[in-house]
Amino acid sequence: MRIFLIGFMGCGKTTLGKKLAKHLNFNFIDLDRFIENKTVKNINVIFDEKGEQYFRDLEKESLNEIYKMDNLVIATGGGTPCFSDNMQTMLEKGICIYLKMKAEDLAERLGKEKNNRPLICHLTKNELNDFISEKLMEREKFYKKAHYILSAKNISKSDVIKLIS
Ligand code: S3P
Repeated sequence: MRIFLIGFMGCGKTTLGKKLAKHLNFNFIDLDRFIENKTVKNINVIFDEKGEQYFRDLEKESLNEIYKMDNLVIATGGGTPCFSDNMQTMLEKGICIYLKMKAEDLAERLGKEKNNRPLICHLTKNELNDFISEKLMEREKFYKKAHYILSAKNISKSDVIKLIS
């Protein structure tokens, strides 16, 4: 079984994914870290040197490697489901869970955690709010295709375990 956690930057995919994987005795993969290990570059450097499309190609290539592995929880990047045919393929290759969070809550979290996120690190508070509202609206049509949608704000690993058991 493969469990893909999807949702906007800052919704808690990595934190929940690690706990869930530990509980299920599965391996945990954070897709961004997987790409960083593969390229030996951090995400900011990849975006700076090669641009977003190059990163999206790496995301897809990495997913193709991940589909060959089993018993995994994967925390995807916020943009992963919205490019190429990634969402459709993840739906076929595993269980997709959308961790849904309101724009205001995302803004509060991301205001404190934007430095290693190339799409938002340069934005002021107001620009960040606008970016989140616009992108969330644009991306939700992909996120909402998930098998399950959970409210991410106070989610615990047992909510997910109940859902998948
Ligand atoms: C991105 C989200 C990031 C990372 C990259 C692009 C996005 O992942 O993949 O900076 O397009 O939303 P997180 O959702 O883990 O921050």
